[in-house]
Amino acid sequence: MIELSHINKSFVEFQVLDDISLQVTEGSVTALVGPSGGGKSTLLRCINLLEIPTSGTIRLGDAVVELSPGKKPGWNEIQKIRRQTGMIFQNFQLFPHRTALENVMEGLVTVLKWPREKANAHARELLAKVGMAHKADAWPSTLSGGQQQRVAIARALAMSPRVLLCDEPTSALDPELATEVVEVLSKLASEGTTMVIATHDLRLASRVADHAVFLEAGKVVEQGPADRVFGAPQQERTRRFVSSINASQGGYGEGI
Ligand SMILES: Nc1ncnc2c1ncn2[C@@H]1O[C@H](COP(=O)(O)OP(=O)(O)O)[C@@H](O)[C@H]1O
Ligand SMILES: [Mg+2]
Repeated sequence: MIELSHINKSFVEFQVLDDISLQVTEGSVTALVGPSGGGKSTLLRCINLLEIPTSGTIRLGDAVVELSPGKKPGWNEIQKIRRQTGMIFQNFQLFPHRTALENVMEGLVTVLKWPREKANAHARELLAKVGMAHKADAWPSTLSGGQQQRVAIARALAMSPRVLLCDEPTSALDPELATEVVEVLSKLASEGTTMVIATHDLRLASRVADHAVFLEAGKVVEQGPADRVFGAPQQERTRRFVSSINASQGGYGEGI
């Protein structure tokens, strides 16, 4: 459903993504893992054209964008891709002057032009899905990080994206609050939500992902079924990374 072919991205002279190709099938969860600076966020942002790749092809549903130096996609092409994606950020990025409910309603009312009553009812359903119905009228600043992230997930789901792109969704949270976000993402995965998650939280990745891609210095070092990449990595580099993370995360990797 998503196909990236030979994606390259350079910032001025510096090549951040080097010939990345990967496929994400409908209903699957892909984890992008690897050391900091490896290109995970940039790759995620290339999928919805928040960053424009220097070259390569992106296919998302029936939208196809081919990129090459000197060939920038048009606004309509960008929108065709972006409308099919929802994004979750490390720092939540809720609108601070809107309640949880209003955050979730916002896109329905302003972008999709739903009547307020219908948007309100759907937003309440989505808040219930992420276990936040009881905080519908709360301001973001009064919510814990885990609660804010769950509202942000409900807000992204409101636009019915084909794929949810998550950039380090648990990284700003201490382990207990991260758990509640992992639970929600895991539930969405089991319901068949297609997701691509950049994360260094191997507990999240091993719990939720079917497919794992290990990126370092802009290159795919290894990719395959998540249980194999985490449990029996083929590459020495991946093996070292997985064991160092498991050690530092105090056994998060258990059960992989
Ligand atoms: N806007 C930018 N301009 C220049 N360099 C950037 C920009 N964004 C990211 N980079 C560089 O690209 C590399 C990959 O970054 P990033 O995708 O954020 O990696 P990760 O998410 O794996 O930590 C890093 O070396 C980073 O400094
Ligand atoms: Mg990143």
